[in-house]
Amino acid sequence: MEACFIVTRIHCAFLFFLAPALLLLLQQLKPCEAQSTTTVAGNATWTLLLENAGIASMHTAVTYMGPVIFLDRTDIGPSQIALADERCRNDSLDQTDTFDCTAHSVMFDPDTNTVRPLYISTDTWCSSGQFLPNGTLLQTGGFNDGVQKIRWLDPCAANETCDWVESDTDVLQAGRWYATNQLLPDGSTFVLGGQYSNAYEFLPADGSLLYNLDLLSTQGYFDWYPFVHLLPDGNLWIFANRDSILFDYTHDVVLQNYPTIPGEPRNYPCAGSSVLLALDGDYTDAEVMVCGGASIMAPGNVTAQYPASQTCGRMVVTSPNASWTMIEMPFRRNMGDMVLLPTSEILIINGAQNGAQGWNTATNAVYNPLTFDPDTWTFVVEPATTIARVYHSTANLLPDGRVLVAGSNCHIMYTFTGDFPTELRVESFSPAYLDPINDPFRPQIVTFSEIVNYNTSFNVEISLPTAPTGNIGLTLTSSPFTTHSFSQGQRQIKLPVTAPSLISGTDTYLLTALGPISTTVAPPSWYMLHAINEGIPSGGIWVNVQY
Ligand SMILES: *[C@@H]1O[C@H](CO)[C@@H](O)[C@H](O)[C@H]1NC(C)=O
Ligand SMILES: *[C@@H]1O[C@H](CO)[C@@H](O)[C@H](O)[C@H]1NC(C)=O
Ligand SMILES: *[C@@H]1O[C@H](CO)[C@@H](O)[C@H](O)[C@H]1NC(C)=O
Ligand SMILES: *[C@@H]1O[C@H](CO)[C@@H](O)[C@H](O)[C@H]1NC(C)=O
Ligand SMILES: *[C@@H]1O[C@H](CO)[C@@H](O)[C@H](O)[C@H]1NC(C)=O
Ligand SMILES: *[C@@H]1O[C@H](CO)[C@@H](O)[C@H](O)[C@H]1NC(C)=O
Ligand SMILES: *[C@@H]1O[C@H](CO)[C@@H](O)[C@H](O)[C@H]1NC(C)=O
Repeated sequence: MEACFIVTRIHCAFLFFLAPALLLLLQQLKPCEAQSTTTVAGNATWTLLLENAGIASMHTAVTYMGPVIFLDRTDIGPSQIALADERCRNDSLDQTDTFDCTAHSVMFDPDTNTVRPLYISTDTWCSSGQFLPNGTLLQTGGFNDGVQKIRWLDPCAANETCDWVESDTDVLQAGRWYATNQLLPDGSTFVLGGQYSNAYEFLPADGSLLYNLDLLSTQGYFDWYPFVHLLPDGNLWIFANRDSILFDYTHDVVLQNYPTIPGEPRNYPCAGSSVLLALDGDYTDAEVMVCGGASIMAPGNVTAQYPASQTCGRMVVTSPNASWTMIEMPFRRNMGDMVLLPTSEILIINGAQNGAQGWNTATNAVYNPLTFDPDTWTFVVEPATTIARVYHSTANLLPDGRVLVAGSNCHIMYTFTGDFPTELRVESFSPAYLDPINDPFRPQIVTFSEIVNYNTSFNVEISLPTAPTGNIGLTLTSSPFTTHSFSQGQRQIKLPVTAPSLISGTDTYLLTALGPISTTVAPPSWYMLHAINEGIPSGGIWVNVQY
């Protein structure tokens, strides 16, 4: 399909600052046909939340208690925030500071925009993670003394003092540096790949077995942080470099090899991103979308600054005859994060237009996010931030519908001079649906059950400022572990829901929804539940999907 985009949300101020080449590009693209079925109006906005988080968050995860975990490496020298209670790390194995009294992980409270230092001992550099069904973050691997360690964080409220708990011994069977995790339907975690291993393993371990995956053995080093999505049939879709497989992890069998995606490599160090589009209908079909990447030459030739990929590919991976359909983005991008919004649109945010992932290997930051509507195949160019977010930056959905943007560090140590200084500022991006102009349509969830059971109906009461004119959607969105342009475990489920019925004498409406039909559609976990009316989401509430 031909690329097109809607220009209505671009600020005029933004147009003045467009580079001439970009302006030419915008002029060449044809505007989309008006086919939006929603009433979303107004503009997206950026807000600076915190000037100095103390660390540059390389890994970010939003807990169901509200606070957000920021996590960097430990071997990066002193950070800008001291550990609490005058504690220090005394780690003879640390490669930079064997004695270090600063924090390399913090808890960010999005209600007050403040941080609290957390304590980690071993190195979490380029690690992986997933929330467990009870909301505990299971975080795995890293580098050096952390490469086979696992860590847990049981989340707590902002006024409490939960912290990391670390395994004393090496629990992982292979070193996991640049690995990817996926929560499984039985609540265990699949851990795959990384620089030191082409194999996968399970946590808890299943009889101490390590299974090699040929897909990863054949991709040179373009397979770090492989893309993994759990499909509603219980199989995994696994993508590395430009190739992908349908994988039955319960029998260690490749069920299907997919066509190679056209264009550039998409995984580290070429840094595209991937998302499983919202699951819908009877959940038999599932579609993935992979966007951006870098020239295969880019990692080997930093001076050339090869242009990043400008393409996305979509594929219905549950089809026996699956094939890629390519579309063009309004700009090139590597190191973009793809974020599933409550409305099932995809936000593509952060990154650069030239070069690749790694230390000082990219230039030409992309300041404008894109919103992609998977139903109409259209991109909206969103207003620009002023802060470059390149290597080691993150973007995560908050329950209130904002997207939290943190991190960016192209340097081996914290470096606050020169191009792309280490970024400690925290911003939020508010999609246009949050513009107050949309408040007349905005639902509010007023009564709900915190527990949602599988294939079981449950009631949600919402209030609406004006009577609904159509059906109201309900989505469940997971909270992923986000690092290196990929959100591990990100998924969204559109739930079947009855038409809203007015509860007499109020502005409150009753919706009856059906919980996810199976653990393969939605592995047991905490999810953000949003009601969507006319394209405008409510604030989200956390629900635990369980047996
Ligand atoms: C939103 O952007 C449009 C241009 O697309 C502009 O006319 C309008 O004033 C903006 N609204 C606000 C509230 O900034
Ligand atoms: C760090 O630990 C080592 C060995 O446990 C000990 O000898 C040393 O005194 C400690 N250093 C500091 C500054 O506490
Ligand atoms: C959550 O589950 C994990 C794994 O079963 C367990 O280790 C942890 O203690 C649990 N956390 C809480 C708060 O119960
Ligand atoms: C934290 O705040 C909650 C609600 O405001 C309160 O119930 C709880 O006691 C507080 N916990 C601590 C440790 O202060
Ligand atoms: C990098 O690319 C430039 C431009 O194509 C070329 O002139 C140069 O020889 C390349 N350097 C290396 C090390 O490949
Ligand atoms: C398979 O794909 C080809 C080419 O896209 C198409 O013509 C054919 O109808 C497809 N077959 C099935 C069973 O979907
Ligand atoms: C869901 O529940 C219905 C009614 O109890 C049942 O017929 C159906 O088989 C269940 N579906 C699944 C996937 O368990």
